[in-house]
Amino acid sequence: MAEEQAQRDDGGGLATARDTLTVTDNRTGETYDIEVTDGTVRAMDFRQIKVAEDDFGLMTYDPAFMNTASCRSSICFIDGEAGVLEYRGYPIEQLCGQSTYLEVAYLLIYGELPTEEQLDEWVFEITHHTFVHENIKKFVEGFRYDAHPMGMLLATIGALSTFYPDAKNIDDTLERHMAAVRLIAKVPTLAAFAYRHNLGLPYVYPDNDLSYPGNFLSMMFKMTETKYEPDPRLERALDVLWILHADHEQNCSTNAVRGVGSSEVDPYSAMAAGVAALYGPLHGGANEQVVRMLERIESVENIPGFLERVKNREERLMGFGHRVYKNYDPRARIIKEHVDQVFAVTGRNPKLDIAVELEKRALDDEYFTSRKLYPNVDFYSGLIYEALNLPTDMFTVMFAIPRTSGWIAQWDEMLEDEETKIARPRQIYTGARTRDYTPIGERTQLTDKPTAETHLIDPAAG
Ligand code: SDX
Repeated sequence: MAEEQAQRDDGGGLATARDTLTVTDNRTGETYDIEVTDGTVRAMDFRQIKVAEDDFGLMTYDPAFMNTASCRSSICFIDGEAGVLEYRGYPIEQLCGQSTYLEVAYLLIYGELPTEEQLDEWVFEITHHTFVHENIKKFVEGFRYDAHPMGMLLATIGALSTFYPDAKNIDDTLERHMAAVRLIAKVPTLAAFAYRHNLGLPYVYPDNDLSYPGNFLSMMFKMTETKYEPDPRLERALDVLWILHADHEQNCSTNAVRGVGSSEVDPYSAMAAGVAALYGPLHGGANEQVVRMLERIESVENIPGFLERVKNREERLMGFGHRVYKNYDPRARIIKEHVDQVFAVTGRNPKLDIAVELEKRALDDEYFTSRKLYPNVDFYSGLIYEALNLPTDMFTVMFAIPRTSGWIAQWDEMLEDEETKIARPRQIYTGARTRDYTPIGERTQLTDKPTAETHLIDPAAG
């Protein structure tokens, strides 16, 4: 029975009895052997478990995918208990100490560190694709002056799909390569244009003489000077921040990119889905919320009261906690080490004192330690962005810029995975069934949906 039931394992051999679960359905007394592979069982192997021939069979139920592997991946490894993060097997600490963001982007997408010649070609390609079609400026100008830059980035990245229709040929590896180059090259330009639009400043075009982070600083901050000269310490700090934010296995926004990409849509549209997911305050939007939280706390003296409100669930300790890390997020540790280097250039951000004391008090408090809540990547990053004089609503944009390379790598891997099919989960249906239509004159009010009156909405306001 075990042999017939056991599926072939990935090595082509038959799984032995020890690599199986024996499941007894107490409704029928039937026993099933389910193969265990890489610490997982296949949800489809439970479909055979039925109570009758016409039974659909068992499904697994896992809202938010708390305990579900959605794919096989070799891009990013996280050990949440140990606080380990590796890109293609290289520890994040070594990459931050010795690599550059563009080299890391190459590593994530192509799987190996480039040779000097490969890196030079990669940097040349990206440097020479930083311009965007002039029409993009018309889209940006269509936004209100106070439009959130993540909303503008979401729209303009999606709009890129209309300028590169050949990107729909996702089976063409050259098209996929060009989409990777164009997205990595143009997202900083789109981000800077959104920022300049918010301030009513003229756009600054890319400067090919500058490094990738240096060019971004120029497009953001250049004013009347003939040539913007970025401070090398800030260039390096940005490069390290972008290495830290480049990828993080199957996070919410990567799941969105893989899900949307599984319909075989073009990569620009799939990346726009990633931007939309990252925009959320529980995900990439947290760095913006951390600084707003520190502003609300105002002083170290107010920390005990704030933490009490968190424990009473009136507040959330933004920048703390993680679905995978149940230890200190290694990225937060590295960012904290770089904070002082940035402040040596920009001047010290007084909110750092509140953040450091807040972390100390939280990590001394059983409420947080019992829930394994530690600082995550967003806890300190906002302080650096604020010291760079970035407005708070640009902070998540600073996350989206580097995560573009991780999204591309994950999207590419998904397309290469022979198990990839269009993502289409099932559901547990809890609604009504087979009701007869009720003529409107015979209906009684069954819902309390909001109406203009209940929400004092002025219908004339549109
Ligand atoms: C990112 O997934 C990734 O890899 C994401 C990311 C990446 O690089 O892509 O790392 C980037 O998104 C980092 C996370 C940024 N978000 C925040 O800092 C927002 C604040 N943190 C959370 O809301 C929360 O911790 C999450 C969303 C990050 C994780 O939520 P989970 O895994 O669903 O955990 P949970 O909500 O089930 O919390 C478990 C317990 C609960 O307490 P109980 O109800 O069991 O008593 O911990 C509590 C939660 O109430 N809790 C918090 C808390 N986070 C969790 N309590 C106070 N403050 C918090 N921040």
